[in-house]
Formats: sequence, structure tokens, C-alpha cells
Amino acid sequence: MLILSKRLLAVSEMTGKVHTIADIGTDHAYLPVHLLKTGKADFAVCCDINKGPLDHAEKTVRDNNLSEKVSLRLGSGLAPLATGEAETVFICGMGGSLIIDIIEADREKALSAETIILQPQNDVPKVRKYLTENGFEIKNEKMVFDSGFYYTILSVKKGISPNLSESELLLGPCLIKEKPPVFLDYLNYKIEKLQALSDTLSEKDTPGAIAKQTEIQHQLTLIKEVL
Ligand SMILES: C[S@@+](CC[C@H](N)C(=O)[O-])C[C@H]1O[C@@H](n2cnc3c(N)ncnc32)[C@H](O)[C@@H]1O
Repeated sequence: MLILSKRLLAVSEMTGKVHTIADIGTDHAYLPVHLLKTGKADFAVCCDINKGPLDHAEKTVRDNNLSEKVSLRLGSGLAPLATGEAETVFICGMGGSLIIDIIEADREKALSAETIILQPQNDVPKVRKYLTENGFEIKNEKMVFDSGFYYTILSVKKGISPNLSESELLLGPCLIKEKPPVFLDYLNYKIEKLQALSDTLSEKDTPGAIAKQTEIQHQLTLIKEVL
């Protein structure tokens, strides 16, 4: 039986039913196998840059008798995928900069997908900024708390994005609008962390510490405005 992490379950909930999905950086192929088994997709293209993870993916697919519904492809980013081949493309569990690099390397192909679902492990504001300045619009956002970490998931499409404010880039336009309970927990967690950092820095008067303190106070103001 496949037991999906809370994080990947939340990712899976970001798509409606489609024919074909693509999972870039699929590793064990847990997400695509879950989507196939729950009837949310009829076919999955599972891509990874490394052979080891793709071997793991092959085993998960075989163990779940899904070989006929999966194409396993070795290669970087979107390169193994044909333009328009998958309605929904997932790029999850990678650093924000890598996700940006993957999209930027094949931007027209990325724009050709009906929906792209991204779950950056870090640098989420940087990902939002890149997307909204490069032909994508953020349609939905979700936050999930899993095993001690907060994860943000973005659902984006080709489109002209409105200009996002500084707090929208930092915290997410949809999350700010909807304010789900997990997001409010996250804001309070961020305030505590930033406040603790600020207290530590207050004993130092180097130019670096002063600049950092200014940045922290600015972030605290943005977060408190949203609460
Ligand atoms: C931490 S795993 C994430 C697996 C899964 N997507 C998840 O969210 O649980 C990252 C995977 O991305 C793959 N990867 C890293 N860089 C990649 C790239 N440029 N193109 C495709 N896959 C990549 C790695 O080999 C690894 O299997």
C-alpha cells in the first residue's frame, strides 16, 4: 500500500481530474502513482535527472501494477516532456532556485501546460517574483504543516499577473486573501522566529547586524499587517 506524506497529499489535492500529468523530479513516483490510483489522472510521465530515483520510480510503478499507464523518462527538467503532452505538470520537493532554472530553461513548454503545480522547499518569494514577471499567474496557493515544516504549494497558469505587493510576494496573494488556519499558525511562527533573531542581533552593532536588524523589522511589519 502506498502511504503518501501529508505534503504530497496536499500537492495531489491541487489538481482536478486530467488525462495526463507529468512529474518532474519524480524520485519514487509516489505522487503520480497516487494520482493514477485515485483516478485523478489516466496517464503519468515521470521524469528525473538521475537514474537511481528513476529506478525507484520504476519499482513503485511495477509494485502497483501501473506500468501501462506510466512513461519513465531520464533527463533534466522539462526536456524529456513534449510540448503540450501533459495538462498538469508538477515540480515539487526541490529548491526554489532549481525550480526557476527548470522553468526558465524551457519556458515556452512550461507555459503550454494548462496548470503547473510547484512546491519549492525554500525561496518561495523568489519563485513568486519570477513567475509573475515571466508570463505566469498564481491561481491558487496552499500551505501544509508536515513533520515540523511548513510547505507552500502554488498552482500557476499562463497569464498576465497583477503586480504583487511586497507582502504578497513574501507571503502569497491567495494565502493572504484566504487566511487558512495553518497560514495564521505560520505567521505567528515566523514572528516568533524573527523576534528571537532580532533579540540576538540587538547586542551587536556591526554594519551587517544593523542591516539585518532593519530587514527583520521590515519583515515583521509586513507580517503583522497581514495578521
Ligand atoms: C527531493 S526529491 C523530490 C521528489 C518528489 N518530487 C517529492 O516532492 O517528494 C528531488 C528529485 O529531483 C530530481 N532532480 C534534481 N534536479 C533535477 C532536474 N534538473 N531535473 C529533473 N529532476 C531533477 C532528483 O534526482 C530527485 O529525485
